[in-house]
Amino acid sequence: DGPTVTAVRGPLVRILADPFRAGSEEVLKYTADALLICADGRVTAAGEHAALRHRLPAGVTPVHYPDHVIVPGFVDAHVHGVQTAVMPASGADLAGWLEQRAFPEEERFADAGYAREAAAVFCDQLLRNGTTTALVFGSVHPGSADALFEAAARRNLRIACGKVLMDRNAPDALLDTADGGYAESKALLDRWHGKGRARYAGTPRFAPSCSPAQLEAAAALWHAHPGTLLHTHVSETPDEVEWARSLFPGRAGYLDIYDHYGLLGPGAVLAHGVHLSPAERDRCAATGTALAHCPGSNLALGSGLFPARETAGAPRPVTVGLGTDVGAGPTFSMLSTVYEAYRVAAMCGAPIDIVQAYHLATRGGAAALGLADTVGSLAPGQEADFAVLDPRATPLLARRAARAEDIEELLLVLAALGDDRAVRATYVAGRLAHDRDTAPAGGNG
Ligand code: GUN
Ligand code: ZN
Repeated sequence: DGPTVTAVRGPLVRILADPFRAGSEEVLKYTADALLICADGRVTAAGEHAALRHRLPAGVTPVHYPDHVIVPGFVDAHVHGVQTAVMPASGADLAGWLEQRAFPEEERFADAGYAREAAAVFCDQLLRNGTTTALVFGSVHPGSADALFEAAARRNLRIACGKVLMDRNAPDALLDTADGGYAESKALLDRWHGKGRARYAGTPRFAPSCSPAQLEAAAALWHAHPGTLLHTHVSETPDEVEWARSLFPGRAGYLDIYDHYGLLGPGAVLAHGVHLSPAERDRCAATGTALAHCPGSNLALGSGLFPARETAGAPRPVTVGLGTDVGAGPTFSMLSTVYEAYRVAAMCGAPIDIVQAYHLATRGGAAALGLADTVGSLAPGQEADFAVLDPRATPLLARRAARAEDIEELLLVLAALGDDRAVRATYVAGRLAHDRDTAPAGGNG
């Protein structure tokens, strides 16, 4: 048998280079009538339909999406798989929200049945929002990560996940120990890392919930298993920064805690980083540590405004992805989150353009997760993960999109006025995984 070939046809958007770093080369590539050919889950050709149609094997008819926009599948670079039921953060500051809402919900994941049901809902939400890759926090319970890996494998989603490590400053029911957490993480890693599209992410919750011994254990596991990720939070709110410093008085600052314990480097993804100093951002760049910008969450908690342009566009740039941070964040929609990033940058006085915002949601996130060559840009050879956006999904979108004068304006309108309704279809590895118009009512929603 030859390879399994699939194809789609329609308007196609690709980002060819990092728009925060690019010089004069072409960054945004728009093909009004494109053909995307996939074989065995990978892109084999992408470009003008007229130029590529002869490469379609006999019998393969492309699925045609005229008047839509095909984009690379979104990468959610920071999301909690165990907080869907308590989204969004409300009323309280970070510590208050964790105590009142997030921790009580996470306690429910001791129940494997609850974890399985929640994981299915979570993965369906990713797909219906066009998200095909995600870096996911579990709860402290290994079963929460098993459930997420299983649900993702059934859908062929590319997820990296881990059970949370936390041995202090949380309810007793949610605490592990440095040694126990290591052993549980190692067992999950052995079970899942590299199986299909799954990857393991060591997940110390954040410095305030981890003893020095636990941070050492997290570093030991990560260093012993190249290719795994290290996923945590840093400098999200001013109070949290003070708290972290008070718990580690010997360290120069919040980032230096992770630096000291060997938790920075390529494959480390730190959520937020809103209050990092320029020197700390530079240290992220120097070590290859990535940040996950979570603008919706930052606005919900009043955490602050992440300076995306200063960070991703610094002379020594930091790799930045975009995260929904559900459940503090208010939406699974990466389209909406793209628009939040756009607005937060404007509020910072250092605006980003819409192509930079989409870059964060695709190529940037892929780079953060060490997947720059694997997903995020639909370059030939990459895995064929993509979303088909519908500019006529709602009456308002249709009316506004009709006035868009170019593809940049259309992308802005889709981000500002769109959400899961504007995701007509989601493909993973060349195969249809979500179809808005045939998704079972409730079942996939
Ligand atoms: N910092 C540590 N844990 C969390 C969490 O669950 N949500 C957010 N937003 N920040 C955190
Ligand atoms: Zn988070």
